[in-house]
Amino acid sequence: MNLFSKKIISWFHTNKRDLPWRNTKDAYLIWLSEIILQQTRVDQGMSYYLKFAKTFPTVKHLAKADNDEVMKLWQGLGYYSRARNLHTTSKIISQKYKGKFPSEYSEILALKGVGEYTAAAIASFAFDKPHAVVDGNVFRLLSRVFGIETPIDSSQGKKEFTSLANELLDKKNAAAHNQAIMEFGAMQCKPVSPYCGVCPLNTMCVAYEKKLVSVLPVKEKKTKVRNRYFNYVVLNYKGTTAINKRTGKDIWTNLYDFPLIETKKEFSEEEFLGSKEWKSFIEKNKYSIKSVSKVYKHILSHQKIYARFWEIVCTIPLEKIIGDTAIVIKQKDIHQYAVPRLIENYLEGK
Ligand code: ADE
Repeated sequence: MNLFSKKIISWFHTNKRDLPWRNTKDAYLIWLSEIILQQTRVDQGMSYYLKFAKTFPTVKHLAKADNDEVMKLWQGLGYYSRARNLHTTSKIISQKYKGKFPSEYSEILALKGVGEYTAAAIASFAFDKPHAVVDGNVFRLLSRVFGIETPIDSSQGKKEFTSLANELLDKKNAAAHNQAIMEFGAMQCKPVSPYCGVCPLNTMCVAYEKKLVSVLPVKEKKTKVRNRYFNYVVLNYKGTTAINKRTGKDIWTNLYDFPLIETKKEFSEEEFLGSKEWKSFIEKNKYSIKSVSKVYKHILSHQKIYARFWEIVCTIPLEKIIGDTAIVIKQKDIHQYAVPRLIENYLEGK
């Protein structure tokens, strides 16, 4: 075992968090936890993991579930394609693999929603296979300890860090090594203000020696953020409202929201009511405006959404106003549907 691996595993034994997915070798539960944790912090993902593991204790339970139920349980976690892929993949494991999670790295990697990091995590944690995990935590730790300035989001960087991570991997102890390197990156070698003074790797850390801790890792590209302007129409006719199941390639596929009028730029209330989009949505004499919400700002990884909610009282049944993709429901039943966090915030009056 190399010194690096020895030090992080020893650190791990005394400092690790007791997390439920660490006390199992069940590949299904490990997979579930890894999908939840792909873009989510442990403290936020924990309750979702526990809910899913309880509701769907095996992959077959998940495979048999209704997609709306899965999406509802996922509500609030974001990056909803994870939930769709999770469900699709559970059906494949249930049928093609008869409910037994595949144990070969290549088979795991072929599953929808599973990338190289997740495949290595499952293969090593559940089956002790010697594949190194390389995620953001590992990039950061390796770039600092070894003083590597290659951008982590370049293809050269990915190759370099993956190859180094595999060299360092203690192949006889892949599960412990991988758990340790990730936990070390997350808890000790944090992005901001890492605990270098007490770090067991500080005697071998290039960044520490050369005072490069705050500049490593290097990133090449800044993520571009797009502004979007949403006007949600919250219709009301005798206690009913209309909601819309989102389809297509845009955000929030398979979740429900209100009928939406998106504009290319920010409109004042007057400009919006005078716009052709609004006029073609509803005829002038068929409604009155009950209220207009504040602008809700909702930030996603690549989009900033500015949303206004227009509460509209209609004088005709909603079926006559809305298009084919929307459904009419009782207003009080909206809580039964999986909605994006933005809609949840509005409904909670936040
Ligand atoms: N982040 C991603 N996978 C994780 C895991 N297994 N434990 C803790 N944090 C994680």
